[in-house]
Amino acid sequence: MNPRARLLIAALLLPPAAPLASSARAPDFDTPQIEARVDALLARMTLEEKVGQVNQFAADSLTGPGKPAGNADALIRRGEIGSLFNVISAAETNAFQKEAVEGSRLHIPILFGYDIIHGFHTLFPIPLGLSASWDPGMVEQTARVAAQEASREGVRWTFSPMVDIARDPRWGRIAEGAGEDPYLGSAFARAYVRGYQGASLGDADSIVACAKHFVGYGAAEGGREYNTTEISERTLRDVYLPPFHAAVDEGAGTLMSAFNSLDGVPSSANLFTLTRVLRDEWGFRGFVVSDWTSIQEIMLHGIADDGATAARKAFVAGVDMDMQSDLYLKYLAGLVRSRAVPASRLDEAVRRILRVKLALGLFERPYVAPPAAVDPDATRQREAIARRAAEESFVLLENRKVGGAPLLPLAAARGRRIALIGPLADSATDMLGSWSGASDAGGVVTLRTSLAARAQREGMGLAYEPGTTIRGAPQEGFAKAVAAAAGADVVVLALGESGHASGEASSRSSLDLQGNQEQLLEAVAGAGKPVVLVVFSGRPLAIKWASENVPAILEAWFPGYQAGPALERVLFGDADPSGRLSVTVPRSVGQVPLYYNSLNTGRPRADPIGLGAEKADPYYVTGYIDQTNTPLYPFGHGLTYTTFGYSAVRVSASSISARAINEGRAHLDVSAEIENQGARAGTETVQLYIRMRGTSVARPVRELKGFRREQLAPGEKRRVDFTLGREELSFWNIDMRDVAEPGSLYVWVAADSTKGTPARVAITE
Ligand code: NOJ
Repeated sequence: MNPRARLLIAALLLPPAAPLASSARAPDFDTPQIEARVDALLARMTLEEKVGQVNQFAADSLTGPGKPAGNADALIRRGEIGSLFNVISAAETNAFQKEAVEGSRLHIPILFGYDIIHGFHTLFPIPLGLSASWDPGMVEQTARVAAQEASREGVRWTFSPMVDIARDPRWGRIAEGAGEDPYLGSAFARAYVRGYQGASLGDADSIVACAKHFVGYGAAEGGREYNTTEISERTLRDVYLPPFHAAVDEGAGTLMSAFNSLDGVPSSANLFTLTRVLRDEWGFRGFVVSDWTSIQEIMLHGIADDGATAARKAFVAGVDMDMQSDLYLKYLAGLVRSRAVPASRLDEAVRRILRVKLALGLFERPYVAPPAAVDPDATRQREAIARRAAEESFVLLENRKVGGAPLLPLAAARGRRIALIGPLADSATDMLGSWSGASDAGGVVTLRTSLAARAQREGMGLAYEPGTTIRGAPQEGFAKAVAAAAGADVVVLALGESGHASGEASSRSSLDLQGNQEQLLEAVAGAGKPVVLVVFSGRPLAIKWASENVPAILEAWFPGYQAGPALERVLFGDADPSGRLSVTVPRSVGQVPLYYNSLNTGRPRADPIGLGAEKADPYYVTGYIDQTNTPLYPFGHGLTYTTFGYSAVRVSASSISARAINEGRAHLDVSAEIENQGARAGTETVQLYIRMRGTSVARPVRELKGFRREQLAPGEKRRVDFTLGREELSFWNIDMRDVAEPGSLYVWVAADSTKGTPARVAITE
């Protein structure tokens, strides 16, 4: 059967559109007033002007015909550019905008885009770190700050959030997303969209979000960057699509199509995902931009022999704007004239783009005022948000007792000597991580700076030794580092990988500390003093030796501008660590992909819900013979400076009808009581997991379906309530319908994805 016929049949067999999750608000680029203005504009546009709107170039890398490099003015005046990116100052955006608004025939303003991934000027932790906060409200605030800073410069479009699910930490871009879980990922997708787009896109300080990379990019085989993906339709719908659906439902104005091929079809030419799912099922009304030259790359993937075919395939599949391939500009007009592309498809793409420009108010306010003098109060507020974001992102992986008490928090004591060792203790640039926006390493406060200030304030000694470089293997610094450790009461080791060892085009085949840092760690630990290891990384690292030999380990990711103050406050207990892993930490690279929400298999190693019948032969089980088959640290793990106890899970019914759930008439209330059993206040992230058995397709051993951050005083008890309804209990079943099915439901309320005892609920017809 030819592929087009197959697609048509697949489209006919598609389930009815899945109902959207409760929407916070209707997308504000979609109003009758805007439609009327788009109609009026479209009626006046020539074919060439329409093609111009679907073309996007980076201002510093123009690939269009006939203009001097670095100067887009002529193109803009001819109406050949709908969007420019990588222009980040008010002076530049205003200058280009003047060409469009005053120099082009129809005065259509340019939409300026930029990769604002974890902050524009003020840099927050990398997105993977932000996701470890399990605090979407806080992330929304960081996105709001980014929107305010960017919009002031005329940048009204961010290529964020990256909502790709990543189950393989070798893939460098795991740093840019919210980890491995679709439920947590969807919560963060919504938070970013709300933060960027604000109360209304039309507000001067709102910027339009772009959920990327649609879709499956995070499943690159072997974690190799830009690699092929093979994802079944069910896994696509259950795991990879939900965060995109959440972003669309929250009103995201744009999506970016990905580089990868999915089941042999390049994502930037995939009619099924870009049109059948995104438009027909989800009703998305914004526009889709390609990734950088991903339309051109359709030729390299091998489904087009020439540029015109690549342009046609991407455009017909549903990519509305061409980032950087220059193929729409070259070929679309001809393709429309020859009727290889329907003129109506071009009108539709232009309509989607104009909608967003109109909603942003660009026609009324194309220019921005030159930036005013810096307001010190606003700066302080942003710093406070950045510091809190960093504090919440840290995950306390270990905190064993040394001399009868947990090593952390460090007790400040006059005369106490701290040795701060490691190449990441004082490296401002690395604290930025990848995609550092318009920030400047000068804005970073390093761990060394903050510890030095504290040591001085509190009469402590601080010795600092880098010990080695991040990626090299020099041994000369080891002796001094070991001597500093030997002369100290406590050692803080700042190790990990460089800020650019993750992010785009930065996949690694190893998950070890980079360079010779593992040897430095072991040498310094050999000095016999208590060691706190602070790990800086854009991915989980397989720190097996450290986990067995170092009493305290804090995963810090790349914390951004406020790295030092946030770390200092958490290490000394002025702030409590409250982060939880949003990704599984493997013991070794050979275990990956390793993720908590896997299927049970027919020969499971463990028996996750305590059913004796599931016990397998101890030899013939899923896993490796040369590796402990559990993660080093599971999804959801993270310690605090206190201890929380959990009561048994309570459910509101012992049975519930699938039909009633599907019709929205029934739901299950779930609760548990938690208690702060320690002597300090602390924040517990209470996690709700489910498992379904007896269903038409196998379901994961656990799935996150709720979470709450709860701050409790010492001795305080609190009941934490959750609701499980259609959205939480449905899945893509054997008929590829998104429904709840009869079976057994197991429900945990627990501190991580491995803990707790489930309650069982029967789901009847
Ligand atoms: C390529 C990256 O994949 C994408 O995430 C980014 O937004 C674009 N380049 C633009 O810089």
